Amino acid sequence: MTTATLLFTALFYLATAVLLAGLAWKIVDYARTPAPLLIPITPAPTTQGGVVMRMIREVALFESLFKSGLWLWALAWLFHVGLALVLVRHLRYFTEPVWGWVAALQPFGLYAGFAMTAGLAGLWARRFLLERIRYISTPSDHLMLALLLGIAASGLTMKFVFHTDIVGVKTFFLGLMLFDWQPLPADGLLYVHLALVAALMLIFPFSKLLHAPGVFFSPTRNQIDNPREARHLSSWAAKMESK
Ligand code: HEM
Repeated sequence: MTTATLLFTALFYLATAVLLAGLAWKIVDYARTPAPLLIPITPAPTTQGGVVMRMIREVALFESLFKSGLWLWALAWLFHVGLALVLVRHLRYFTEPVWGWVAALQPFGLYAGFAMTAGLAGLWARRFLLERIRYISTPSDHLMLALLLGIAASGLTMKFVFHTDIVGVKTFFLGLMLFDWQPLPADGLLYVHLALVAALMLIFPFSKLLHAPGVFFSPTRNQIDNPREARHLSSWAAKMESK
């Protein structure tokens, strides 16, 4: 085993543990946070089924972002849909045999790499070009965009310019999952791609990227607009009433 293989083996176990434990901790924290007031943004659904549909539209189409501005919506949607397809395409490195639907989506995943990059570039340009947005942008806003762009650029370069040994990459990752460790192909660009991915996994649970699970816990989006039909009572307030 080379030093690089050992380092990346340890790094990916650490990054996976931090990502899973960090996400679980944050999600439990979100779930436990009281929502004492009924504050759905109106017009809001008046039934549970309506709330489910609102959430689906929010997550799949970014409905409220669309209402707030067309450019931001278009860039964000392009990036996120591209990212989703790229991630689906990557499942082939972690499954053997590769699932049929993952194989079927491979060609789309490739174009998605460009869509994701274009979306990210636009979102980043916005933070420099629009004075109002530049003023409120923090170093972490820039860092997240740089990290994601670095991952996409190194991935696309591997795909189209300096090819890497993808069979070797798959053998390495299947080995990690089965605790049957295998060598990682010696390739500088692959090291860059994987190191940036590990950094993303380590940062994810403590960054603004947590909006991904967070959107489901947003009271303004997940509450039913039924203040007359049902009295809204948080669990801690209910306990005080029964005393
Ligand atoms: C451990 C996780 C990952 C592994 C093992 C991995 C590996 C690879 C490899 C080997 C390629 C080259 C594909 C080829 O030559 O056909 C690639 C491409 C790419 N990667 Fe990753 N990657 C990982 C995670 C990610 C993540 C999290 C992102 C996005 C945030 C990403 C974005 C891309 C993109 C955009 C491409 C180019 C398009 C494509 O081939 O799909 N990768 N990746």
